Amino acid sequence: MEKFVIKGGRELYGRVKVSGSKNASLPILFASILTGELHLSNVPALMDVATTCDLLEHMGFSVERGEGRVSVKEENPVPEAPYELVKKMRASILALGPLLARFGRARVSLPGGCAIGLRPVDLHLKGLSKLGADIEISHGYVVAKVNGRLKGADITLDFPTVGGTENILMAATLAEGRTVIRNAAKEPEIVDLARALKKAGAYIEGEGTDVIVIEGRREFSPVSYTVMPDRIEAGTFLAAVASAGGEIVVENFPAETLKTVIDKFREAGLEIEELSPTEVKVRKRERLRGTDVTTQPYPGFPTDMQAQFMAAMCTADGVSVIRETIFENRFMHALELQRMGADLRIEGNTVVVKGVEKLTGAKVTATDLRASASLVIAGLGAENITEVYRIYHLDRGYERLERKLRSLGAEIERVPSELKY
Ligand code: UD1
Repeated sequence: MEKFVIKGGRELYGRVKVSGSKNASLPILFASILTGELHLSNVPALMDVATTCDLLEHMGFSVERGEGRVSVKEENPVPEAPYELVKKMRASILALGPLLARFGRARVSLPGGCAIGLRPVDLHLKGLSKLGADIEISHGYVVAKVNGRLKGADITLDFPTVGGTENILMAATLAEGRTVIRNAAKEPEIVDLARALKKAGAYIEGEGTDVIVIEGRREFSPVSYTVMPDRIEAGTFLAAVASAGGEIVVENFPAETLKTVIDKFREAGLEIEELSPTEVKVRKRERLRGTDVTTQPYPGFPTDMQAQFMAAMCTADGVSVIRETIFENRFMHALELQRMGADLRIEGNTVVVKGVEKLTGAKVTATDLRASASLVIAGLGAENITEVYRIYHLDRGYERLERKLRSLGAEIERVPSELKY
């Protein structure tokens, strides 16, 4: 086990480059089940990517990894995703749709609960059933099969689930006939997935809107694709400057996909100058102002930025009201931030943040991926030393975050943790 030791109070200066998107890489890697061969670049070196590669290997695909690249090729496919791998990463459920569409059957472990809420997969299963799959839950596994090919259908999602939209979209690309997904999620990572699939020969229209139309194909060709930059990592750098102060240039910045986040940080008083469509200059001149946010499906404020925004607001002037509407239990970082001196009142799905002059360093424990980023952000701006435990959560989704922050002047070290949990 490792922890971060952060000496707070160093302003950030310099240039930093955003890595490839985790949430786009994972579904596109699973899309290799459909295409049989995939060459992906700008893939971040992350635990979740490693888990996906392990899973693909387990399912009979050969996987080759290089610096920022992953190549996947079908060898002896076995349409099964076991509990041991699925439990490491919920997104493993994204194997279900492609396996079913390609091989007519699949056995994928249910992901189970997770720290930020229940996160069921009922909408994935409902959608795949509408495509003609016969699905049952047996011994903790989703066992799905279809007689012949899946059949295109008109599917309206009860909620614009990101993973559900991706699973159904992938399955529909090899189904017979036309599928319409209504109330689809509009996240940019879905657009990236659709682009990769289209490059392989899929017919998809409307990605990025709430109605996606897919015309099924019989097979695809091998595909090479470059993953989009990670908009949440990019937003995390905005939060880092909002907390620690300074002036940085962020390269490979997907400004187009981060409008709501940029607007909110600007409203709080952070200066963000778009130097080009892929580069921004971020500067904090004065103490920020308390600013309210409510998380929403894209293009609203992303739930994956809620914790980092809250950390930045802890030392802003005045009150910020932060409301979480996507996940039911995503405020665990708030309790840790309180231990650093933050003045927070948690009321159901809302946290009222009353800005304090300074946070003070403390030992804190990360409970999930974005919560761990928020504790790092708080630590960067806090007085004295902050130690962040259980940073394996952070390693699931950020590529070399401490190295990038160090290159901007932060004092942050990864050291072995004395706590053995
Ligand atoms: C994806 C992202 C995650 C992000 C989330 C919301 C990946 C790998 N992960 O997760 O980082 O926080 O989108 O932007 O891309 N729900 C159901 N039934 C379902 C599916 C979802 O009730 O079948 C609920 C979930 O419990 C949750 C909400 O819908 O409360 C949103 O979930 P969803 O959009 O599916 O998120 P993920 O795809 O799991």
